[in-house]
Amino acid sequence: MTLRVRGLTIDHGAIRAISNATFNIPQGSITAVIGANGAGKSTLLRTISGLKRATSGNILWEELELHRLQTEQIVRAGIVHVPEGRSVVTELTVAENLALGGIWRSRNNKSDVLAAIAEVYELFPRLGERKKQRADTLSGGERQMLAIGRGLISRPQLLLLDEPSLGLAPLVVEQIFQTLAELQKSTGMTILLVEQNAMSALRIASQGIVLDQGQVVIADDARAIMNDTALRYAYLGY
Ligand SMILES: Nc1ncnc2c1ncn2[C@@H]1O[C@H](COP(=O)(O)OP(=O)(O)OP(=O)(O)O)[C@@H](O)[C@H]1O
Ligand SMILES: [Mg+2]
Repeated sequence: MTLRVRGLTIDHGAIRAISNATFNIPQGSITAVIGANGAGKSTLLRTISGLKRATSGNILWEELELHRLQTEQIVRAGIVHVPEGRSVVTELTVAENLALGGIWRSRNNKSDVLAAIAEVYELFPRLGERKKQRADTLSGGERQMLAIGRGLISRPQLLLLDEPSLGLAPLVVEQIFQTLAELQKSTGMTILLVEQNAMSALRIASQGIVLDQGQVVIADDARAIMNDTALRYAYLGY
């Protein structure tokens, strides 16, 4: 399953957030989407997951035209979006938040959801030690793990992650990125990783997309982007 974005333009009223973007996300890859504040990264993810409508252009997931579907249909197609800002239900416990992630599957296969929850506890032991703790009492990093874990419960084929490293200590960031890389290998899922933390993201990615004011200025091998100092200086600022 390859994600194909063709001539995608997205507006917020008079503001053009994404301008005529074209790129492919190959199956089983980790693709890092990087760019400055306001470059259009979150808008891109929100549009892929159906939360925002494109102005023009196509988003294809094999034969499915995602730009015509509702969010619910997109989730059922195996595409899960973990938005910016550690979004968990703060009044609920860790276990309850994870159970919510299984809502789309539980009607058909409850045992599978339980197995997926057990896997998340294995992946993030800190969550396993805090099953009954309310989400609003978790640390920032734990909350981010919970948001990612909840996304994983539905066993996505395409995982859209919006700045999982935001506000986290460097060590926790590295831990989460390593976990993502291992998870990608073991499940074969495709990951679209939006990050300000460009180098950490590119290190686990196979390809990178650089957005500059809504334009795709680079879509290349992650290693090539990391090794090109002129390009890094021009678009990533160092
Ligand atoms: N709901 C909205 N209404 C109006 N403008 C919006 C809306 N959402 C985003 N924008 C604008 O669209 C542009 C792209 O925003 P977006 O959130 O996609 O950027 P981003 O790359 O995710 O930035 P950041 O790194 O700060 O999260 C910005 O200029 C922003 O102000
Ligand atoms: Mg954003």
